[in-house]
Amino acid sequence: MEAPCGGTGTCGKCKVRLQSPGAHPADENLIAFFNAEQIADGWRLACLYKVNTDIYVDLPPQSSVSNIVSQGYMKNFVHAPYARKVLNTGGNADLHLGNNIEAVNVANSTASCCGVAIDLGTTTVVASLVDLNGGREIDTLSCPNGQKAFGQDVITRIHYAGTNSGGTEILQKAIIKDLRNLLNALCRRHNLTMDNIYDVTVAANATMIHLLAGISPESMGKSPYMPAFQGVLSLSGLDLGLPVSPYCRVYCLPAVSSFVGGDITAGILACGLEDPSEKTLFIDIGTNGEIVLADGEHFCSCSCAAGPALEGMNISCGVQAAQGAIEDLFIDEHTVQYTTIGGEPANGICGSGLLAAVAEMRRTGIIDKSGRLLSHSLVKTVAGKKRFIIDDKQNIYLTQQDIRQVQLAKGAILSGIYTLLKTVGIKATELQRVVVAGQFGAHLKADSLIGSGLLPPEWEEIISYTGNTSKSGALICLLSYPERTVVEAIAKNIEYIELAQLEGYETLFVKCMQFDPSA
Ligand code: FES
Repeated sequence: MEAPCGGTGTCGKCKVRLQSPGAHPADENLIAFFNAEQIADGWRLACLYKVNTDIYVDLPPQSSVSNIVSQGYMKNFVHAPYARKVLNTGGNADLHLGNNIEAVNVANSTASCCGVAIDLGTTTVVASLVDLNGGREIDTLSCPNGQKAFGQDVITRIHYAGTNSGGTEILQKAIIKDLRNLLNALCRRHNLTMDNIYDVTVAANATMIHLLAGISPESMGKSPYMPAFQGVLSLSGLDLGLPVSPYCRVYCLPAVSSFVGGDITAGILACGLEDPSEKTLFIDIGTNGEIVLADGEHFCSCSCAAGPALEGMNISCGVQAAQGAIEDLFIDEHTVQYTTIGGEPANGICGSGLLAAVAEMRRTGIIDKSGRLLSHSLVKTVAGKKRFIIDDKQNIYLTQQDIRQVQLAKGAILSGIYTLLKTVGIKATELQRVVVAGQFGAHLKADSLIGSGLLPPEWEEIISYTGNTSKSGALICLLSYPERTVVEAIAKNIEYIELAQLEGYETLFVKCMQFDPSA
């Protein structure tokens, strides 16, 4: 089961029903999520329930695997892999591994010299098997990040690592297990052995890289929020316990700060933001929104705490982007029309649906400029609180509190964007490209981004979605050794702005929470 809040009893996403509940005190955690009838019927939060004897439990319907975005935009680059097979006159091959040139007899087949590019996300892991000689992506597999059982976001995992004995090792084991499974499955599917995997590249945020390397991420969880290390990390694949050749190194793309990690430098590389001819804004929206502004000379970045709302968390009927989640929505006078992922019956609303709902509520005047729910046939009052009803039968709705969560995310992201523009001295109208990257971005419509006020309206025509650029960047570094120098130079040249420390930032943040495009 997933435990988005890390088992602190605050998210309510681990509900189970005990078949023989017995007496149980209705503590405040239970009351927050269940009524008296449900408690008597055996409903509990799994994370807080102590099991003392054999029990039978009913699990809620499982959300099936999320729509994991595994492909992303990739600029053109020269094919020159780090692990390069050089054919000798005798027909054998030498494998050059950076400074250590190892002579290895590898099978004389183009598909036998392979590498794996990995996007190690907080929520999902994507691994691509690549033929290093041919420069061809052979296959891609993905899975949810096994660390999810210890918390949904990086903050809860840092907390887990810091407050549990052996916490860092437990989280490291969880992710290594995922990587082993993915690599073994890729090899099995293509009749390869671990000896065929000569090179691995990983793009991930700073917390994930710390945990992969078994380095405590604790220092990133408290002021001044510094990582234990920065820049490139090169690890031995075998030492990590991965099923790879003894010569395989694991190259982790460099991070800029605790909050702008190798997944973002990978995205900058993949989208070619180092191109001096274009002024580009790169946004990766998630629990933390990372934003980079490139004007051809500078890279300026910031990270904003968008909160978990856009990932469907902390929202009354919020779910992750998986089968049955409402992903788009349209208000037609007095009815709501929506579509769900996979066309399944609706089981909640995910981040893209949430933004679409807010954009539609604003368009139809159901909420005012300040985000306040107004009187409307689709707004009902239940237990003294207003709700915007999306589907009465399925009991899916949004509350005023849910709308405030979206406003907090909007305030964080928009204020970050305006701060970067001001710092670099560029007007919003001077940008040539706005790149929206990441899992969440791939499900978004420009209408929702503009209509909800998350992005300024003048950008409608220049927004492009680049998908999983974290994996694209890892792939480029796998297939092109010179591009590693490029990404390392990018990481060194990115200025990082700490928003909270800027004078007047709070005022800008509050202004950006309003549904007013001219904020
Ligand atoms: S309430 Fe149990 S995992 Fe969050």
